[in-house]
Amino acid sequence: MNIIIFGPPGAGKGTQAKIIAQENNLVHLSSGELSRRLLNDKKLGEKIKKYLDSGQLIPNYLINNIVEKFIQTNLSCNGFIFDGYPRNLGQAKELDKFTKKNKIKINLVINLKLSEKEALRRILLRGKISGRSDDNLKIVTNRLKIYRERTAPILSYYRNQKKLKNIDGQQTIAQIAKEIRRIIKESGLNKKSL
Ligand code: AP5
Ligand code: MG
Repeated sequence: MNIIIFGPPGAGKGTQAKIIAQENNLVHLSSGELSRRLLNDKKLGEKIKKYLDSGQLIPNYLINNIVEKFIQTNLSCNGFIFDGYPRNLGQAKELDKFTKKNKIKINLVINLKLSEKEALRRILLRGKISGRSDDNLKIVTNRLKIYRERTAPILSYYRNQKKLKNIDGQQTIAQIAKEIRRIIKESGLNKKSL
């Protein structure tokens, strides 16, 4: 079973992905976390830093490579929960090609819907303790704009494939987790090994 968790910055993708991964024995693939971990890398660190610090998207050739390497080293797992990837149409198409080649199927895309006001509130609150260079008003405003212009449009790509499930992301963490559990159960995916 492979799931994409989708939504704007602050929607709770990371929070829910951890729960889904644990409950379904999936590997959590967070493209943001993978990128932040590479900040100390001699070759890629400098390159990546300027995108993370400005809230810009890392170019596709770089991020696709980072994600594909991670998938490849975890291929024997039960499935992945994709958090923060794909983020534009080029990435979505690349993921389709790559998964097909590796006999993986994306089964579900769970979209956490959230107002920009609430997204901003959560991230500014987290910014007080997160240490993330992009958790401040100026950069979050840019991240939200990029989400609106580049990322949200790919929802129709998954809607057309009949994989999209929408959830109200303004609910509590526990309520959202419960809805996701229901969606997975209703899909019957947790019973099949894919
Ligand atoms: P990334 O790390 O993916 O950040 P993001 O998408 O901006 O989202 P966040 O991680 O801030 O939010 P989240 O949805 O995970 O919410 P969370 O659970 O943390 O990307 C960072 C950067 O990396 C990008 O700007 C880009 O530069 C680069 N990058 C990453 N992927 C890329 C890609 N594919 N292509 C190109 N570049 C890429 O929750 C947020 C806060 O709210 C937390 O404090 C949490 O405790 C709280 N919270 C969670 N749920 C709830 C709830 N239901 N109610 C109240 N509070 C809640
Ligand atoms: Mg996150």
